[in-house]
Amino acid sequence: MVARLKSLLGEEGYNQALAPLEQASGLPNPAYWSRDWFELEQERIFRRAWVFAGARAEIPEPGDVKPLDVGGVPVMLVHGSDGQIRAFQNVCRHRGMRLVDEPCHKGTFTCPYHNWTYGLDGALRARPHFHGPGKGDTFKDGGGELLDLIAVRIAEFHGCLFANISGTADPLDIWMQPITDQLAGFDLSAIRWAGKIDFEINSNWKLVYENYMENYHVFALHPRLTEFAPMDIRSPGAWHGNTFANGYRFPAMEAGRGEGLPHYPGLTAEDASRGTWFLTMPHFAVEVFPDQFTVLVAYPEAPNRCHEELHIFLIGDEAATGDRLADARNEVFTMWRDLNNEDISILEGMQNGRRCPGYDGGRLSPHWEGPTQSYSRKIIEMMVAA
Ligand code: FES
Ligand SMILES: [Fe+2]
Repeated sequence: MVARLKSLLGEEGYNQALAPLEQASGLPNPAYWSRDWFELEQERIFRRAWVFAGARAEIPEPGDVKPLDVGGVPVMLVHGSDGQIRAFQNVCRHRGMRLVDEPCHKGTFTCPYHNWTYGLDGALRARPHFHGPGKGDTFKDGGGELLDLIAVRIAEFHGCLFANISGTADPLDIWMQPITDQLAGFDLSAIRWAGKIDFEINSNWKLVYENYMENYHVFALHPRLTEFAPMDIRSPGAWHGNTFANGYRFPAMEAGRGEGLPHYPGLTAEDASRGTWFLTMPHFAVEVFPDQFTVLVAYPEAPNRCHEELHIFLIGDEAATGDRLADARNEVFTMWRDLNNEDISILEGMQNGRRCPGYDGGRLSPHWEGPTQSYSRKIIEMMVAA
């Protein structure tokens, strides 16, 4: 695998991403443009890790179904009639037709091609005309492992659903431990999904996170955010195993961050002035303020394209969905939409800049961008891991 990565990045490019910070630069251009590199990331990172699959609240009722792509694999999340949430590969066992195209509500899945029908639990129910005209068969207990829908491993973290295609990732609780540890004073059982914002971005997915974890650009790009939390309270952050963490104590709350909405129950005064953000490999980013838990995830679609979703969780049902707090809630959405939009043209410009053969990954700031370099290193480590 190392030889394969070196052949894609070039020997020098591979080594520079792993060099000591003073000499280091970011990943070289092929990591952002090569189709082969992209496919390897999908296979070796996104199909092996825990991938955020959505909020449980997106499929609140039995029969609700949400399709999504996980590392290039079509998957569907299903709320079963027994109340259990399951995930399946989104494919009919007959001729490989995709079963579900968009979020929907179902009693059963009937394949549009030859009408094989499956239950919400994935069990095959019927195959009309399979043995000749009028000679179908029906199944009381499913068709067994060759005929039932293929299950995908899932797990939940406080209303966030994750999928793991390979079935081999460490348990999700272990994966999330650095976040759980650092948020000991925050009662995460109180978070409720308030909705999501979608962005289509013409850049490689990694640039989203390299930009996300880096505080250096804030003064230049984000005037409102700089006013809320100026450069002199910002630090580079650090990795704790598979999770990057950074944070500050902000001088005063503002609309969209801490003001006008309920806070986590029992929060200390100290935690009520904390802003903390995390990135758990490979793509689960979350920002925590006293009134929210905001998830940012990018889904790779092509080397130069990704789909980004911001899922906003607020504290308690009234904050998340009630009428009384609608204005304050909308302010959180507006703040995040505006902030994210300030980054998008930069992400797309960096993607385009990586078409210049004279650019080689750049020169990083040893003060600010150590964690960014570590991210490149972790990408390579995840791809190389057996
Ligand atoms: S492909 Fe689904 S029934 Fe034939
Ligand atoms: Fe930014």
